[in-house]
Amino acid sequence: MADNDHTYNIIRFDSLDSTNRYTVDNADTLADRDIVAAEIQTAGKGRFDRVWVSDIPDNISMSIVLKPKGDPQTLPVANLTQFAAVCICRLLKRYGQTPMIKWPNDVKVGGKKISGILTRTVFSGMSLKAIAVGIGINVNQTQSLLDSLTQPATSFNILCGQHIDRDKLMTELLDIFFADYDAFMTAGFAYIRDEYISQCSSLHRELTVHTMSGDQSGFAADIDETGALVLETASGVKHLTEGES
Ligand code: BTN
Repeated sequence: MADNDHTYNIIRFDSLDSTNRYTVDNADTLADRDIVAAEIQTAGKGRFDRVWVSDIPDNISMSIVLKPKGDPQTLPVANLTQFAAVCICRLLKRYGQTPMIKWPNDVKVGGKKISGILTRTVFSGMSLKAIAVGIGINVNQTQSLLDSLTQPATSFNILCGQHIDRDKLMTELLDIFFADYDAFMTAGFAYIRDEYISQCSSLHRELTVHTMSGDQSGFAADIDETGALVLETASGVKHLTEGES
């Protein structure tokens, strides 16, 4: 039986600019499975350098610090955001929700975003020093705050119709994450592929994906065994490893 280490150590801050920024800057002193959690973030960062609004307390802003052993080339580091998205979906299901994942890793309920994930890596030459899996979850936001955001958003308390115990929720998510983390790091994306695909809202339809090398349009046919989106375009089948759909 695998010798899974489910333990982790939560380091709490009242306020940080960004838990990801803190983790990257303190990669040497933080330990594997430390959790950097902030009550509020004053400069939370989202994907594509967007602002992640997180200056309201009683929500989840945290970075999971990981220092896996082994060759970073063979570890599924690039799929950790997808693994985290699957874990957040499992958490939402416990609360009676039907979550969907917009490729690659936006978690939504009823078409409204409830969580965002941004993973950062710290290298020293070729060696991987640390990974920060940054997770933001809307837990106890008011509807008016969510309405002020640029895209449709929801929160646990709105979906469940009651105040949610944030610390309990955070512990539940971390337990879900670490219950399968070792197996995921060994097996890679294949370990979660079926579960990911069954909840992926981006598939089996025409899609335009904004990538770093320009927009790609076509039919989203599949998610391949590496987690890439398989897009059938007019100029051939593309396997997209990054972008926003
Ligand atoms: C996104 O959907 O654009 C990703 C949002 C990621 C937000 C989290 S909150 C904890 C961590 N610290 C940050 O500054 N960002 C991530």
